[in-house]
Amino acid sequence: MADGDFLALGGPSVDGEAALRPVPRHVALIMDGNGRWAAKRGLPRFEGHRRGVEALRRAVRAAIEMEIEYLTVYSFSVENWSRPREEVQSLMGLLHRFIRNDLAELDANNVRVQVIGARDDLVAEVAALLREAEQMTEENTGLTLVVAFNYGARQEIAAAARAIAEAVVAGRLSPDEIDADTISARLHTADIPDPDLIIRTSGEQRLSNFLLWQAAYAEFSFLPINWPDFDEAAFRSAIDDYAHRDRRFGRVEPVTCNAKTGS
Ligand code: IPE
Ligand code: IPE
Ligand code: MG
Repeated sequence: MADGDFLALGGPSVDGEAALRPVPRHVALIMDGNGRWAAKRGLPRFEGHRRGVEALRRAVRAAIEMEIEYLTVYSFSVENWSRPREEVQSLMGLLHRFIRNDLAELDANNVRVQVIGARDDLVAEVAALLREAEQMTEENTGLTLVVAFNYGARQEIAAAARAIAEAVVAGRLSPDEIDADTISARLHTADIPDPDLIIRTSGEQRLSNFLLWQAAYAEFSFLPINWPDFDEAAFRSAIDDYAHRDRRFGRVEPVTCNAKTGS
């Protein structure tokens, strides 16, 4: 190899166009702090979850107004099954009611619902409801609302690794063809762009097994409020803050988010 040849190897492509938009194309929300919201008020945790659904409705409305293309919401993690039985049941009940009560309105607002997470171990009734939400809205062209339900990023990556191993064993794929795109294409998010901004409420600063692969170049916003208090003002302020970030993707020159000031 001649001197300097290694420079021609290039690197992963980056969606520079998306990074230039002042409004993120894809926002992901870790809706945390319902239990603490309720505890502070001497209310049962369930009441926090119920108020959390109201905050979710507000967030969807605001995302539509701000012309965000994809909104992903972390509604139930694979680890959340280890909560007390009654709490798991009440969360399932809320999901059920949210889809039953809100699906028609989401559809009327041209929202496309997509669900990510493992489907196999869900009770048939819940799985059918999720399928119904996706099928009813699949032609819609407005906001894509991605519901992460029974979701775990490590499990998602492990399933992709399994699918790749099966393809190799079957002779459909050679190990040297495997690159980052091979993995991305086998995740639940295969047809969804990576999140530009991940917002977590409750003051915790962790991902809790959410979108580990997809978050490689995401911006983060950790808010000190609990999820039921998340409103349009908090959402807009996180988006404003994002617009002033310099996204670099490993380069020297920032690929700025802020097309308004050009800074
Ligand atoms: C988020 O609120 C809702 C889910 C995880 C389903 P939490 O229930 O985690 O509330 P805290 O974190 O205990 O306050
Ligand atoms: C993350 O919150 C999962 C959801 C918001 C659905 P958790 O409350 O489950 O996360 P940890 O346990 O604080 O990390
Ligand atoms: Mg929590």
